[in-house]
Amino acid sequence: MAQYDAIAEAYQDSKQLRFRKAIERHTLFETLGDIRGLTVLDLACGGGFYTRLLKRAGAGRVTGVDVSPEMIRLARREEAREPLGCAYVCGDVADFEPEPAETDLVVAMYLLHYAGTREKLLRFLRVCRDALRTGGRLVGFNDNVMRPPRGTVSWLKYGIEKTGPLSAPNEGDPIHYRFTNPDGRVFGFHNFFLKPETYRDAFRESGFRDFRWLGVSLDPAERENPFWNDFLDNPPVIAYTATR
Ligand SMILES: C[S@@+](CC[C@H](N)C(=O)[O-])C[C@H]1O[C@@H](n2cnc3c(N)ncnc32)[C@H](O)[C@@H]1O
Repeated sequence: MAQYDAIAEAYQDSKQLRFRKAIERHTLFETLGDIRGLTVLDLACGGGFYTRLLKRAGAGRVTGVDVSPEMIRLARREEAREPLGCAYVCGDVADFEPEPAETDLVVAMYLLHYAGTREKLLRFLRVCRDALRTGGRLVGFNDNVMRPPRGTVSWLKYGIEKTGPLSAPNEGDPIHYRFTNPDGRVFGFHNFFLKPETYRDAFRESGFRDFRWLGVSLDPAERENPFWNDFLDNPPVIAYTATR
C-alpha cells in the first residue's frame, strides 16, 4: 500500500492551510510565469490539486502521475466532477516512461525527497530529463534540506511540525512530517533527507543546467502581515528550478 493511500483525503484538505496559497502556490506560479499552451507533466501529482491549477492557468496537455492509487482516485473523481481535460497515470515516477523530449514543463511538487538514496534521486531526475525537450524546465517544491530539523521543529501556526534525528542527519534518514489541518485533523507521513550537495551533483549528472534552490516567496497581498515572518525566516519547504 502506498504511504498516501491512508491519508489521501486529509492531505487534500491540508491544501486549505494558509501557507499553501500565500506561499506554496504563489511561489510556484510566480516561478512558472506564462504557461499557456505548454505540455506539462505533474509528477507526484497527488489528488491533482496543482494539476488542475496548471490546466486552469492555460497549459495545453497536462498529465499527472502518482504512485498512490487513492490519490489518483481523488484526482480522477475531481476530473469527473468538473472535467478540465487533465489525464492521470498511477505508477512510480521511477518507472515512468515518458514520450521522449515531448514535454515543455515538468512540475514536481514534493517528489524528489521521496528518494532515500542518490541512485533513486538520479532515477527520478532522469525520468524528468527524458521527458523534457531541450530548454524545457523542471520546477518543484521539496523538503528544505538546507535546514534539516534536529529533533522536532514546530511551525504549528502554519499547521506543520517536522522531526528528524537529534544529530546531523545522514543520507536517507527519514524526516517525519505532522500536519494539523484547519479543521484540527492531524496526520503524518515521512520523506527522506539527502544532502544539498547530493541534489546539486545529481541534477548535474542527469543533464540539467541552471539547477537552483529558489527559497519561497510570499503573495504581495500578505507582505505587511507579520504572521508569515517565522515561515520566511526558516522555511520548512523550498522551491527549486532547473533547465534541460
Ligand atoms: C506531499 S504529496 C504532494 C502531492 C501534490 N504534488 C501536491 O502538491 O498537492 C506527495 C505525493 O508524492 C507521491 N509519491 C511519493 N513517491 C512517489 C513516487 N515514487 N512516484 C510517484 N508518486 C510518488 C505520493 O503518493 C503523494 O501523493
